[in-house]
Amino acid sequence: MKAIVITRAGGPEVLQLQEVEDPQLKDHEVLIRVYATALNGADTFQRKGSYPSPIGASPYPGLECSGTIVSVGKNVSKWKVGDQVCALLAGGGYAEKVAVPEGQVLPVPPGISLKDAASFPEVACTVWSTIFMMSRLSKGETLLIHGGSSGIGTFAIQIAKYRGSRVFVTAGSEEKLAFCKSIGADVGINYKTEDFVARVKEETAGQGVDVILDVMGASYHQRNLDSLNFDGRLFIIGIQGGVSTEVDLRALLGKRLTVQGAGLRSRSPENKTVIVNEVAKNVWPAIAEGKVKPVVYKSFPLSEAAEAHRLMESSQHIGKILLLP
Ligand SMILES: NC(=O)c1ccc[n+]([C@@H]2O[C@H](COP(=O)([O-])OP(=O)(O)OC[C@H]3O[C@@H](n4cnc5c(N)ncnc54)[C@H](OP(=O)(O)O)[C@@H]3O)[C@@H](O)[C@H]2O)c1
Repeated sequence: MKAIVITRAGGPEVLQLQEVEDPQLKDHEVLIRVYATALNGADTFQRKGSYPSPIGASPYPGLECSGTIVSVGKNVSKWKVGDQVCALLAGGGYAEKVAVPEGQVLPVPPGISLKDAASFPEVACTVWSTIFMMSRLSKGETLLIHGGSSGIGTFAIQIAKYRGSRVFVTAGSEEKLAFCKSIGADVGINYKTEDFVARVKEETAGQGVDVILDVMGASYHQRNLDSLNFDGRLFIIGIQGGVSTEVDLRALLGKRLTVQGAGLRSRSPENKTVIVNEVAKNVWPAIAEGKVKPVVYKSFPLSEAAEAHRLMESSQHIGKILLLP
């Protein structure tokens, strides 16, 4: 089969389409002929050499895909050859075929094209497992999402609105903020021109928000703590702003704050299955109802993976970028 190989650590030019061995199918796995895969921030870190594949995972990038099942392992009971599905992967989506444990596979949501289905697994599993399963974001609470126009952000806005939250977002341009509002964000904050702590306080009568979904890490840590309400929860899923910082711990004690972090890729297949089942139960109905829509900015042929990475690193995109083998 053909796959995108990271020929060495470096810029987008190190991504090359090559002929490689087909994946070896294990007993509990299905083999998917990939129709589409989607980019994630993690793919660019893997390409640069700072985020290696977990042990046992495919060496090729790609954390999600959609496609058709072409073969099933002998212990697979849930899926059959010919099923159109999408899947959460530990790697290997940038290829014509990928093998994945059956518990990480989801049906294509009703009303969604096979192509657009590739935009959902990673964002749905990340957002559901963090701010809903762990931070327990509930109806009527306020949520601040950093990077509202990202793949993660555009999904988080829609599902949080659907679940009855008041949603605040940060983004780096007025155009991106306008898009975030068009899909449900209540308050848009331009992080390049505004102080998000002051704006959050102003919009919440001085209280702060209940939950924050953070992609920045160190550079926003103190300001995130300062933006939280009593019993507030900060969930860190990205470290784009660095990994270490000094914090004034008094905010944690005074406001009874919870700080959590998690990465999805390194979770065990068993743990991913639990998340995928929760996503099927809680998120897929919202997609089927049309309350959560795919946000796809652009699609490229798989052979143009380097171009797709350049677009992602320029941060001009809103939502997801797809690759089509
Ligand atoms: N832990 C996990 O399991 C997990 C899973 C998936 C993704 N993630 C993380 O989630 C983040 C988004 O991923 P993605 O794939 O959706 O990538 P993406 O579409 O490339 O998004 C990156 C986002 O970061 C925003 N950003 C950059 N600097 C910012 C700042 N100072 N303040 C606020 N926002 C800022 C960008 O906003 P502008 O373009 O407006 O500057 C952009 O929306 C990445 O950090 C990724 O590593 C984590």
